[in-house]
This record gives sequence, structure tokens and C-alpha cells, in this order.
Amino acid sequence: MDEIKIFSPATVANVACGFDVLGFCLDNVGDEMLIRKTNKKGIFITKIENFDLPFETKLNVAGVSALAMYEALNPVCGFEIEIYKNIKPGSGIGSSAASAAGSVFAMNELLGRPLNSTELTQFAIKGEALANGCDVADNVAAALFGGFTLVKSLRPLEILQIPTPKHLFATIIHPQIEIKTSESRAILPKQVKLEDAVIQWANVGSLVHALHTSDYSLLQKSLHDVIVEPHRKSLIPHYDKIKEHALNAGALGTSIAGSGPSVFSLSKGLETANKVRDAIKKLYAKTGIEFEIHVSKINTQGIKIR
Ligand code: HSE
Repeated sequence: MDEIKIFSPATVANVACGFDVLGFCLDNVGDEMLIRKTNKKGIFITKIENFDLPFETKLNVAGVSALAMYEALNPVCGFEIEIYKNIKPGSGIGSSAASAAGSVFAMNELLGRPLNSTELTQFAIKGEALANGCDVADNVAAALFGGFTLVKSLRPLEILQIPTPKHLFATIIHPQIEIKTSESRAILPKQVKLEDAVIQWANVGSLVHALHTSDYSLLQKSLHDVIVEPHRKSLIPHYDKIKEHALNAGALGTSIAGSGPSVFSLSKGLETANKVRDAIKKLYAKTGIEFEIHVSKINTQGIKIR
């Protein structure tokens, strides 16, 4: 195989209470990428469609993660990368992660799979570091492993896969404004109150338990964020209203997708997820702010070969 085409999915980091550690993978929102072996050694970004992103390998997140892996493996060939970008940068649903994870996943396939998903995540983090200014693995792990993931530790890197309850669906509204992850992180306090931390880690524990046991009512009680959401929600126009409408329409929980501005809701059943979409759509159509809205099942596979 000399060439591979992949679908690299959008992902939702944090999942309300799990700042920087939890994530899940979407199914029908994502980028397409084509990666080709070349005789010329090196990593070359040869095409980027839909968004104005750098072609220079060291300035491109897909290029940086690919280069880190390339230098570690030192294969006899080089690689060309074509990116057909559908996830708007600064959307909060893992635009940089899709690129960073996609390039290393595809190269690994073309090289006969020498690396496992954790090793690929390690290289994908390099791309995320370029985009966000810090090491985060929550989006790239969800893209590479699929389903729900927990970043147990960054050093050494350890990713846990968490089961996905069968009837869980996500509704994502993406107001068409850009929030840079670095800026959305800069507004967060460096310290948290112990009483908030207690609530938060109880929610993380019960959310993970709810996912393992498909306990939708516990899931509903766990999808709360008392640490990050209060600081970030002011960046997202009409955030409280979105949440109110989603919960009234039957969502189990609603919170900020990654660093925003996208907002995700989780629902039991497609019908409820569609009702949540309709309720948010009706609300947001009145605001004059352009938006996209998606309903997706949870993608338990992660990146897919086309
Ligand atoms: N967990 C990150 C954040 C998302 O909320 O800033 C980007 O990986």
C-alpha cells in the first residue's frame, strides 16, 4: 500500500467534569486526509483545502506530529500529506487533534502498523502542543482510540478506554466564532477551591462508573463542571440559554466542548438528541450568530480508513 485515505473525526474533550483527561469521538463530523509514500525523504504537506493553514511542515500540526514519528522511525521513504479540512480551527471539537492524529495514524498504516495507539498518541501530542501551546492528549486520544477515553497520565502516557453505552448520542452546536484554546486556557484560575475539587472528582468517578454500567440516570447526575465552565461560559454567546433549552428538551447533560465555542449535549436515544438539536436550533436562529449543528452517534472506532 502506497497511499491511504482516512476520515479523521472531530472529538469532544473534557466531557463536562474531566478537564484535560476525558474525551469522546464523533462519528459524522471530521476531516478527510490522504497520505502517500514518496521516494523523496521527508514530510511534505502538499494540499490543504477549505482553510488557510501553513504548508510548512514544522508550522502545521499534521506536519509536526508526522515529523516527530518520522524522525523516531526513520523509514526509507518520505510522505506527502493532503488535508481536506472540514473542522473549523478554533471550534472546540478537536480540529488540530484531527490533523495531528490523522497524519500519524495514516503513516502507521502505510508502514505496516509498527506502533500501537498509545505510541501514536504520543506523537500526536506534539501537533497539539504546536496548536495549543501545551501538551494535551484528551482530543487526540479520543480520535485514535475511539469511544470514550481517559488520559490517566501524560508522563508516562497512559490512556484508558471507557465503554460507550449503546443508546448515547451527541448534539453539538458550533457557533461560528473562533476561540483559541490558548486564550480559553489563559482565563482559567491556576488554583481551585478544595470544595469544588471534591465535587469535580466525585463527578469524574461517577461519570466513568455510569459509562461502564450504562447507567443513564447516573450519567445525568455526573455531567457537571464546577471548575472550568463558570470561567469559560462567558466566551460563548447565549451559553446558559443553550444549556437550558437542551436540558428542557431532554438532554442528560450539556457542557462546553473542549475549550469552546462548541457546546455538546449527550442524550439517551437518537430521537431525544434530535429534539435537543431542534430546541437549540430554534433558540440560536434568533440570535443572528451563524452556527452549525450536528447530531452524532459516538464513534467507537476512531479514525476510519476510506
Ligand atoms: N482540554 C483542553 C481544554 C481541550 O479544555 O483546554 C484541548 O485539548
